[in-house]
Amino acid sequence: MTVLELRGIVKAFGDDVVLRGVDLAVDEHRVVALIGGSGSGKSTLLRCASLLETVDDGQVLLDGEDVTDPRVDADQVRRRMGVVFQAYNLFPHLSVLDNVTLAPTVVHGRSRAEAVEEARALLDRIGLADKAAEYPDRLSGGQQQRVAIVRALAVRPRVLLLDEVTSALDPELVGEVLSLVREVAAQGMTIVMATHEMGFARQVADTVAFLDGGVLLESGPPAQVLGEPQHPRTRQFLARVIDAGRL
Ligand SMILES: Nc1ncnc2c1ncn2[C@@H]1O[C@H](COP(=O)(O)OP(=O)(O)O)[C@@H](O)[C@H]1O
Ligand SMILES: [Mg+2]
Repeated sequence: MTVLELRGIVKAFGDDVVLRGVDLAVDEHRVVALIGGSGSGKSTLLRCASLLETVDDGQVLLDGEDVTDPRVDADQVRRRMGVVFQAYNLFPHLSVLDNVTLAPTVVHGRSRAEAVEEARALLDRIGLADKAAEYPDRLSGGQQQRVAIVRALAVRPRVLLLDEVTSALDPELVGEVLSLVREVAAQGMTIVMATHEMGFARQVADTVAFLDGGVLLESGPPAQVLGEPQHPRTRQFLARVIDAGRL
């Protein structure tokens, strides 16, 4: 079953055409790693998928429903997706616990007691139960990103969209965030993640999709796209990544 489908997504900023007709289908319980150089359109694609940007052409389907139809309430749709960015995901003026319970209570109308219980269980799972009352600036970057991920999960999203969630972190903090993503994936969450962590993509993703200049040039199982890339641009990109020590 396809949870998220992008059909012919076109997006321009002024004269700058950033996405040139991208098709991508993400099946339930699958992990898609979106790779590509800086400026290739990964973030824009995730922002279009989560309706944080309007598309100029094409459709986003969530559980088969065209959610880019102007008659659809975009706020309602966004509530069915979890989105985590590179950094600054948490509300700095709210405690860790309140960060995690805010959307479930205010947006989804769950009782405070139920939301708190679930938030505490989630924080416990990531070993941060003792940080519930702290403010985000008292946490390391890795802890903040893990809280951001469980906060996104707290609304029980249909799909989790992760945009380079480890790239703003000090190298020693990357592992703890990737472990959490791995665990969330193993539990069956449907995930689309833009990442520069090729080793992680190879291990965790079911599909690797290579974006280049707003075109999805190549996609398939990690062994194929990372191991035997068909397109010269993919090979070039991977060679650069290997040089940077990330494969
Ligand atoms: N809000 C925006 N306004 C204008 N240009 C943008 C905006 N967001 C992204 N872009 C441009 O779109 C292109 C793709 O950016 P982005 O999606 O961030 O790529 P990536 O995430 O792969 O690095 C870049 O050229 C970037 O400058
Ligand atoms: Mg980006």
